[in-house]
Amino acid sequence: MKNLIDKKILYIICGGISAYKSLETIRLFKRNGAEIKTILTNSAKEFITPLSVASLSQGKVYSDLFSVENESEMDHIALSRWADVILIAPATANTISKLAQGTSDDLASTVVLASNKEIYLAPAMNVRMWEHQSTKQNLKKLINYGYKLIGPEIGEMACGEYGEGKMTEPDKIFYEINNYFLNLKKNKKLKALVTAGPTIEYIDPVRFITNKSSGKQGYEIAKSLFKKGFNTTLISGPTNLKIDNSIKLIEVETADEMLLETKKNLPADVAVFSAAVADFKINKKYEDKIKKQDSLNLNLKKNVDILSYVSSHNSMRPDLVIGFAAETDNIENNAEKKLNNKNCDWIIANDVSNKKIGFNSDFNEVTIHYSNKNKEKLSYKKKSQISDEIVDRIINQLN
Ligand code: PMT
Repeated sequence: MKNLIDKKILYIICGGISAYKSLETIRLFKRNGAEIKTILTNSAKEFITPLSVASLSQGKVYSDLFSVENESEMDHIALSRWADVILIAPATANTISKLAQGTSDDLASTVVLASNKEIYLAPAMNVRMWEHQSTKQNLKKLINYGYKLIGPEIGEMACGEYGEGKMTEPDKIFYEINNYFLNLKKNKKLKALVTAGPTIEYIDPVRFITNKSSGKQGYEIAKSLFKKGFNTTLISGPTNLKIDNSIKLIEVETADEMLLETKKNLPADVAVFSAAVADFKINKKYEDKIKKQDSLNLNLKKNVDILSYVSSHNSMRPDLVIGFAAETDNIENNAEKKLNNKNCDWIIANDVSNKKIGFNSDFNEVTIHYSNKNKEKLSYKKKSQISDEIVDRIINQLN
């Protein structure tokens, strides 16, 4: 069945002995209806000819960063925007190192640096190169940036040595990318709702109560859901963040507005409540700016708990309701209490006493508490990567 019709794959072939496997990989993609454009690095051309790649891919082979012909037809930015997925196979130690440093000195590295798409790497190198600390560090960086690894495998190498570093076979590479598109298609029918950022509660027209949430964690979750094909709505308190136009963004200020928009945007299949909603609001907001005075008592009242409201309403309850718990102490116990009291399926516990994670950081470390009493720690990494891992678990659960 041609299930990759309309799918666009930008295939970057680097210089390694396993470059010959790219021909079979291209054949598999073409047989399943995918459209392929290829980039050959200069060293790839030592192993495989542009002519054979062009014949099999039935498309143009790109190679030069500074080509008048390419610039007028499709420059490096257009090329990276054109693709649904970028596949780099074989990904050599040199290319991996360049990508980890953000180097852009040839067409392949420039296109990848300019990309906002899913990027798959199938590394291939000698076992010692694979095991070298610098390769490990470079890959760690790339995984943190969200790159997906396919392989490598253990086996006998072209150089005669044995170990890990062999490029994964074309059928497995094809399987991984085909699976990505299948999941995307399945998830397209699913709706996700995410709350993010702080809320602000006005005292008077110019003053308000708020908290330190930047919205970064929630925005990354919305991005990861969208990347995996979910029809995604993001309800956000005030932040400085931007998000892809394809994600439905609803901007609110107060907890009451967030509740109202949440209700309006249900039903959903999954809802993730990462917003740091103010627990209290001013009982009666001052109509005019409060004049200076020696002291002022503020009368606060409790805000409605949006998460509890949604998870306790049978008719509108999403299949999967996920809350966050921002805690400074007794993190595990408090998270468990919130899981039960707020009737959600998972609570993701966040230690916000640690300045390197939680509020406003680009990094996080969380523990997912499942309603079946299991727990799972997602160790310190970028919020984008934490989000990808959470979304992988959401997909497993919904499936
Ligand atoms: O925004 P960042 O700077 O990236 O920081 C991320 C974060 C630390 C804010 C985020 O990871 C996080 O932990 N969010 C939850 C913060 C919080 O308010 O936790 P809480 O323990 O007070 O609330 C528990 C849960 O109930 C949360 O899912 C919250 O969204 C929800 N809630 C709380 C109060 C309320 N009135 N309505 C709610 O829906």
